[in-house]
Amino acid sequence: MTERARSPHNPQDTHGAPQQSPQDAPSVQNAPMAPPLRNAGTSGRAQPDTGRAAPDAVSCTGLSYSFGRTKAVDGIDLSVASGEVFGLLGPNGAGKSTAIRCLTTLLPVPYGMVRIFGHDAARERMSVRRLLGYVPQQLSADASLTGRENVALFARLFDVRRRERRARVTLALEAVGLADAADRMAGTYSGGMVRRLELAQALVSAPRLLMLDEPTIGLDPIARTSVWKHITAIRAATGMTVLVTTHYMDEADQYCDRVALMHRGRIRALGTPEQLKAALRDRDDTGHDGGDGRAAPTLEDVFRDVVGGDLGGALGGAGSTGENGAGEEGGDFRDVLRTRRTASRVG
Ligand SMILES: Nc1ncnc2c1ncn2[C@@H]1O[C@H](COP(=O)(O)OP(=O)(O)OP(=O)(O)O)[C@@H](O)[C@H]1O
Ligand SMILES: [Mg+2]
Repeated sequence: MTERARSPHNPQDTHGAPQQSPQDAPSVQNAPMAPPLRNAGTSGRAQPDTGRAAPDAVSCTGLSYSFGRTKAVDGIDLSVASGEVFGLLGPNGAGKSTAIRCLTTLLPVPYGMVRIFGHDAARERMSVRRLLGYVPQQLSADASLTGRENVALFARLFDVRRRERRARVTLALEAVGLADAADRMAGTYSGGMVRRLELAQALVSAPRLLMLDEPTIGLDPIARTSVWKHITAIRAATGMTVLVTTHYMDEADQYCDRVALMHRGRIRALGTPEQLKAALRDRDDTGHDGGDGRAAPTLEDVFRDVVGGDLGGALGGAGSTGENGAGEEGGDFRDVLRTRRTASRVG
């Protein structure tokens, strides 16, 4: 699907076996899960098994997870191909974050099967973690550290080799456009910069699969574009697979190869944005035929059609500016904290 090239911050000569397993994340809620460097390489394919076709980056069947009596994820089947940018969409409470956390191994998989590049998430947890970078929905950067210190902390947490750390931290910061601000306290960063810093934290160990939970939540359109520009560039350079959750249908339409529309723990539709829009357009009874002067359907129309009229204001469509307004790049660190806390409460 995409050209896979060598990563500028992911040199081939560091492909050796990971030195040791990363410890369980100290705070699984807030810590990106990222392994020691395992480059996607020029093939972009994992090789956990030999003699068989390369496995999907993500393959899950019948995945379910409940919090007490709340069925957050209700039997989802999902495959994400290596190198794909895949969007998991849905309104508040749909189960996106819970599903992502099951895929990262941060939550156990009590029902169903999850494989990451062919590794069983239940039985090969550390092997799976070594392949992943994870940017959680909640804030994972420390305001009292500089950008460089934040990224260096994650480099240490995830066992990036000592002799490579300094260079890798610099490259990760450069990859997200924070080289000039690297030695400023993160507390002085704009909201967009904070999200890009968290991206650098997850990238510092060069994961093969990057999971981003609401990477642009609460950001203004300029900051959202900037975050996506960096994600897109890094993906093009490394061939990594990206699994992203978002409320923003316009972003999913623009940046995702395929999307799954999730509602109340289940996947209600799955396909490329074009396929989903075309299916709605081709239907007779929707009023979205696109051929008689009426507007062609958007992905938001598709989602409203799929999940019914109970979305309320949960969807962030095109032109949604979050809480911060346009102009500044996503407010400041305190805005980010407030927004993410709100998002967490709502979820
Ligand atoms: N730690 C928890 N304890 C109890 N219930 C939870 C917990 N986390 C999530 N839930 C519930 O599980 C369901 C799915 O939540 P989840 O956070 O996965 O949704 P989401 O799609 O990520 O929503 P959002 O878009 O708001 O982030 C919701 O009903 C939520 O209230
Ligand atoms: Mg969520």
